[in-house]
Amino acid sequence: MNNRRDFLKNMTFAIGTGGLLAGCSGSNTLNLRGGGGNMSGYCAPKIPAVRIGFVGLGMRGPGAVERMMYIEGVQITAICDKIKSRTESVEKMVTGRGFPKPAVYTDSEDAWKQMCQRDDLDLIYIATPWHLHTPMAVYAMENGKHAATEVPAATTLEECWQLVETSERTRKHCVILENCCYDFFEIMTLNMAQQGVFGDLIHGEGAYIHNLVDLKFSKDGYMDMWRLKQNASRNGNLYPTHGLGPICQCMGINRGDRMDYLTCMASNDFTMNAEAERRAAQDSFYQPYVGKPYRGNMNTTLVRTARGRTILIQHDVSSPRPYSRIHLLSGTKGFAQKWPQTHISFGHTEVSDEEMKQLGEKYSPPIVTKIGEMAKKVGGHGGMDFLMDWSLINSLRNGLAVDMDCYDAALWSCITPLSIKSIARRSNSVDVPDFTRGNWKTNKPVTLELAAAIGVRDVQKADPSGQLNVK
Ligand SMILES: NC(=O)c1ccc[n+]([C@@H]2O[C@H](COP(=O)([O-])OP(=O)(O)OC[C@H]3O[C@@H](n4cnc5c(N)ncnc54)[C@H](O)[C@@H]3O)[C@@H](O)[C@H]2O)c1
Repeated sequence: MNNRRDFLKNMTFAIGTGGLLAGCSGSNTLNLRGGGGNMSGYCAPKIPAVRIGFVGLGMRGPGAVERMMYIEGVQITAICDKIKSRTESVEKMVTGRGFPKPAVYTDSEDAWKQMCQRDDLDLIYIATPWHLHTPMAVYAMENGKHAATEVPAATTLEECWQLVETSERTRKHCVILENCCYDFFEIMTLNMAQQGVFGDLIHGEGAYIHNLVDLKFSKDGYMDMWRLKQNASRNGNLYPTHGLGPICQCMGINRGDRMDYLTCMASNDFTMNAEAERRAAQDSFYQPYVGKPYRGNMNTTLVRTARGRTILIQHDVSSPRPYSRIHLLSGTKGFAQKWPQTHISFGHTEVSDEEMKQLGEKYSPPIVTKIGEMAKKVGGHGGMDFLMDWSLINSLRNGLAVDMDCYDAALWSCITPLSIKSIARRSNSVDVPDFTRGNWKTNKPVTLELAAAIGVRDVQKADPSGQLNVK
């Protein structure tokens, strides 16, 4: 299968261009299906004002609209959700803060297509249920827009290839919105890894361990219970990218190394069906969710890379245990781990609190030192969501490469179908496709330096509580 297609008020600042200017690549290798060449390191033409169309305004989408209002050079041009009350709520929020009224697309399953066809949009920002990410991203790119999609970007191998081929052919970015790559410890360890502080990385671990049982079963949560239905029908790592994305960036996966093969093992389900039975006994609404083939509570995937390194990825959203993305890096010189508690060591002993502070000062990358405080104020998972959105807009406005491209979107997402396949074959190993088609050998590492930096806005909050009330 794998070779099948061989911040801070009105702040504006600029960082000197003498930093790490990775330069723009992307035209060195032509391929037959994509037709446009390598998108890793590709720099699209500069966009002075980024006009965004948002689709999906449920629990996640409105926060993205809000964050984007704080970034200079962004226009909230259009919004879409099939539920009218959701577009109305976001429209009110946008106009309430003094921004022009966005065009609204609603009341139908396909209204987003009309939005993508507009000729005054540069970027489609997607926060819909998983099965719509690839169709929407592909359609956006086909209609001449850059696409940014929530995670995972794709649900099948076929969709992963569609993202790669469409991005290459249309020369439009296909960005996976993996916010965890921008969390403060993760991005510091990325900088440390790139500067060789941990030596050669041998092993990494990432996870999404988050007890979401109540939210999944909530009638007021995910639209049409879509996330519960996913967990009741597919046995694999359904949400691999939060833990995996940052580890792949640190280990230079797709940029110097690639995943070779993986094996996956899952426990049985010990809690989800029991929860469905418990609820169904009190409320017939839950009867259809009884007796379903729920995915196992704990899913563990092991990846071996072409350079002989290993990655462990775990997924558990249904056991009563503390939140963790692990974020563990083990190298020839040093070690870092974020959960259950932040830990860096060079040998047997953990660095002291004072040394940890010094490491933070030395290795926090420019994006953190410049807009980290602003990001914490705007919020979104403690600030990482804002850093992600800011970095995306900075790339588009300044014609820079994006941090997370179509190959990352495809690779990080393909863990879902491949883990399902491995489980179905008693954990036999499964080859991981090389979505870069060999370009991983020469692709440059993701860059943390900013060749040019855009500013942030001071947005008046119409609602004094500063809270969005969108459901
Ligand atoms: N990165 C993160 O930290 C993070 C956090 C939460 C959710 N997410 C991701 O964001 C996405 C959305 O999650 P959510 O929690 O907001 O789910 P949700 O169910 O609350 O929202 C989905 C929205 O999409 C809309 N929608 C569905 N079909 C549509 C269509 N055909 N046209 C227009 N709108 C349509 C729904 O009406 C709903 O408002 C998911 O992919 C999820 O995995 C990411």
